[in-house]
Amino acid sequence: MTNLLKFPAGFTWGAATASYQIEGAWNEDGKGESCWDRFTHTPGKILNGDTGDVACDHYHRWKEDIALMKKLGLQAYRFSISWARILPQGRGAVNKAGIDFYSRLVDGLLEAGIKPFVTLCHWDLPQALQDEGGWANRATAEAFVEYTEAVTRALGGRVKSWITLNEPAVAVWSGYAMGVHAPGLTDYSQAVRASHHLLLAHGWAVPVIRRHSPGAEAGITLNTSWHVPASNSIHDRDAARQGDIWKRWFLDPLYGRGYPSDLQADLAAKGALPDGLDFVKPGDLDAIRVSTDFLGLNYYFRTVSRADVPGNDPQTVFVAEKNLDNYTECDDLEIYPAGMSGVLKRCYFEYLPPKIYVTENGASYSTPPDSSGRVPDLRRIRYLHGHIAACRDAIQCGVPLAGYFVWSLMDNFEWNQGFKQRFGIVWIDYKTGRRTLKDSAHWYSKVIKDNAVEEFGATEEGRVSS
Ligand code: FCB
Repeated sequence: MTNLLKFPAGFTWGAATASYQIEGAWNEDGKGESCWDRFTHTPGKILNGDTGDVACDHYHRWKEDIALMKKLGLQAYRFSISWARILPQGRGAVNKAGIDFYSRLVDGLLEAGIKPFVTLCHWDLPQALQDEGGWANRATAEAFVEYTEAVTRALGGRVKSWITLNEPAVAVWSGYAMGVHAPGLTDYSQAVRASHHLLLAHGWAVPVIRRHSPGAEAGITLNTSWHVPASNSIHDRDAARQGDIWKRWFLDPLYGRGYPSDLQADLAAKGALPDGLDFVKPGDLDAIRVSTDFLGLNYYFRTVSRADVPGNDPQTVFVAEKNLDNYTECDDLEIYPAGMSGVLKRCYFEYLPPKIYVTENGASYSTPPDSSGRVPDLRRIRYLHGHIAACRDAIQCGVPLAGYFVWSLMDNFEWNQGFKQRFGIVWIDYKTGRRTLKDSAHWYSKVIKDNAVEEFGATEEGRVSS
């Protein structure tokens, strides 16, 4: 007999997706163009020229997808709404067909006994707003309030868990500074302005959610990694500190501390603050520190930083031997479950949010169906097992972790990596659209049923034994 690591009663087990990554139907039923439509349709931006035009065709297959979730026993489903389906021009006229799609989806989930967790914006900004400067333009934050009004008026009576934004850090640093995500800009000063307007959009939207969705919980989802120095040298430690631009730049203002002065100095040194923080207007920081009900955290990997030459940009170094036991198939992401509990503890004890949800965690492995049609994705089971056990460890240390969402319910369009990366617990055959539950889906289903993971590692059969 193996010991079970039990989770608290009422712990929420879910799976997550995002509109652009699964829906397809990019120009159907009055939907407007999003910045991701534009980016993927621009040659050279995405691996193999893939696009989300069809993706998992969830827009047409949502009933089948809810049936799969029900079969797995999912208690909650985190999905995002495509802003351009609701407001094709980003603001102004509401597209009723867009509202109707999500309304049916929410009804279907509730009928299946699955709690909808809605993310209002998971990166796919309407292109009409991008054309005006996107998040670097303060008016986009105002448009987000209008959009939040439209969505929460329609769904606020039925949806009781709201996430304003997904990973604003990735939206701005990858999209506006590094140019590898939409809109593909390489301008740090625009990225910093954009970060402020995203936070402002969150701050302004929360009261709107409260108004139209009484009794609902509202929060934001941030990305994290377990960021450590390669050595104890002062330079490597400083390199790891600079990496906090991905976390503390957002957490500090959200929890009332304003923008951290050390990171401001780093940005100024890069020339990213030519006019200082002139985009921060009176009242903005108060709006951003709005009280929320939870903090959503996404965790995937560890980052080890080194500063070869003081003053140069820190480098990420790979300290673990390069193999699939130590890294997933995606972008050299190091598997490091202890970082999951580390991140949870750091974020909780430093900022004291009322509760935390792990809104994403998962691994990319492309294990295909075997000749019998079964998908033996043992490595994914190992990954999930280790990270879920690490969540349990954080709970034991006092972190009020209320739920866990695996990324992702199904294989999907993985941004600039296209369809090459498969993060799903459900296999998608992109030619036919056929869905197949992977072994990890069966395994996760049992975790949900037991409200526990077993104490030891996964065996070759994909089960867990002592
Ligand atoms: C996160 C994103 C999510 C997915 C995973 C793998 O950064 O929020 O959409 O792409 O990474």
